[in-house]
Amino acid sequence: MNHLVAPSLLAADFTRLSEEVRMFDQSEGDWLHLDVMDGHFVPNISFGIPVIRSVRELTQKPFDVHLMISDPDRYLEAFKDAGANVLTVHYEACDHLHRTVTAIRELDMMAGVAINPHTSVESLEDVLEEIDLVCMMSVNPGFGGQKFIYRTLNKIKRLKTIIIERNLNVKIEVDGGVGLQNAEAIVKAGGDVLVAGSSVFKSDDPSKAISDLKAVSTHTII
Ligand code: DX5
Ligand code: ZN
Repeated sequence: MNHLVAPSLLAADFTRLSEEVRMFDQSEGDWLHLDVMDGHFVPNISFGIPVIRSVRELTQKPFDVHLMISDPDRYLEAFKDAGANVLTVHYEACDHLHRTVTAIRELDMMAGVAINPHTSVESLEDVLEEIDLVCMMSVNPGFGGQKFIYRTLNKIKRLKTIIIERNLNVKIEVDGGVGLQNAEAIVKAGGDVLVAGSSVFKSDDPSKAISDLKAVSTHTII
């Protein structure tokens, strides 16, 4: 399957939020990635439910909500109501991850689990059957515009091998520092969803940046 591109709204110009979302809607972008930060799990605060609800009416495309918040269980239903289609929680923020991802699926959303750069992919082995997506953080979460950690490529390959061996239907999303300079390597390693903030919204032509990311080679090496 061709890889997906999920522009991250965190890097958009918030004074022109509706134009930015409309640009995405008209583009080749697949999912809109929405980063929710609570100033507790990560050292930054972004936006939350009212913003997601407001932009929901501007596009029919799926909303990929990345929760960088402590104790996400309290808000699963609220994010569903705001329009989330994919809801991703952090492995490091959940004491009872199995319960959390089960609850996300029961709410009819795709369940995602994000892992920080220091967390090994093997930590997820016993929950992979219960999830639809692994969000592989290729930066430490909390800020846009950081440098891609290249060791992530090795983690993507390891996870892809596990997914193929067990014949699972789990997408690998890669988040942080993604752009044309590394997109092909990520897709070749087994990445299925490219999250791109700065490389899209800070470029002179965001729509073209999305098309360029869609056009990279899809031939995996595994
Ligand atoms: C980082 C967020 C990312 C961020 C990516 O904590 O999870 O989704 O928006 O931004 P770039 O692509 O600029 O690294
Ligand atoms: Zn994100």
